[in-house]
Amino acid sequence: MKPAVSKPEDGLFWITGASSGIGYAVALEAARRGWRVVATARRPDELATLAAAATGFPGRIIPAPADVTDAAALADLVRQVEAEHGPITRAFLNAGIYLPVRLFPFEAGKMHRSFAVNVGGTINALDALVPHMVPRGRGQIVFNASVAGYSGLPTSAGYGATKAALINMAESLRLDGELSGILIQVVNPGFIRTPATDTNPFPMPFLMDVEPAAIRVLDGMESRAFEITFPRRFTYFLKFLRMLPRSWYLPLVSWSTGWNDKGKQP
Ligand SMILES: NC(=O)c1ccc[n+]([C@@H]2O[C@H](COP(=O)([O-])OP(=O)(O)OC[C@H]3O[C@@H](n4cnc5c(N)ncnc54)[C@H](OP(=O)(O)O)[C@@H]3O)[C@@H](O)[C@H]2O)c1
Repeated sequence: MKPAVSKPEDGLFWITGASSGIGYAVALEAARRGWRVVATARRPDELATLAAAATGFPGRIIPAPADVTDAAALADLVRQVEAEHGPITRAFLNAGIYLPVRLFPFEAGKMHRSFAVNVGGTINALDALVPHMVPRGRGQIVFNASVAGYSGLPTSAGYGATKAALINMAESLRLDGELSGILIQVVNPGFIRTPATDTNPFPMPFLMDVEPAAIRVLDGMESRAFEITFPRRFTYFLKFLRMLPRSWYLPLVSWSTGWNDKGKQP
């Protein structure tokens, strides 16, 4: 039988990176839809604010602070939360950072940090959750990657590579999940207005507000679709670019982003 979409009556919804931006908005929207949300990030005060913002909603928010790079802390968190509140049936592995990287000066620390949080943090969350979820034979795990994972973009050598890794990981695990009752999905957003993008010095085409983005994420999780991507007029264009020969794609990206114009580079 195909893995099923999880429902609020099945258990808890765990969200990493819930203290701001997309994770925060998805947590609120999920509580509005009746979910009991376990909200994880490093900043407990922001998680308390999030929990308070859901007061009066059909669901509620349970703050569970942790750093996703700390594997032991995530394992403890899942164990404690499940013992106290019941099984986690849906997870949105969303915690992530964007650190621009250039060829020169090459900042290896930024590359390592990007991989530690975006990829390592996701692996740690899977390692904490999967041993509990798989024996139950049902559940839903959703990665938050990015369209930056489709192909190389300026300054994205670290960030884009981590997101490409997550997309590939999700594709592979989707096949396994089909055998074990776990629905694996990936979210690939375009530009969303969050604290992470507020300081971007470059133009962000089709920039979307975070509340409608959260609705798109939650609606996508109600389907069995592998990929949830929006706004489509932007992300589908990037899908098309991805199919071009690199000898066309790279000059086109350079030209369309102004990258070949030294005066415009960030
Ligand atoms: N905004 C966009 O345009 C866009 C587009 C595509 C994909 N995304 C992806 O969406 C996700 C959320 O990004 P956002 O735009 O919402 O950014 P954001 O507002 O900066 O949120 C990032 C979240 O990740 C958490 N986080 C960072 N490092 C962490 C760590 N070591 N341990 C636990 N939590 C950590 C942050 O919480 P603490 O600081 O409290 O730990 C925060 O809650 C990221 O994976 C990002 O790559 C964003």
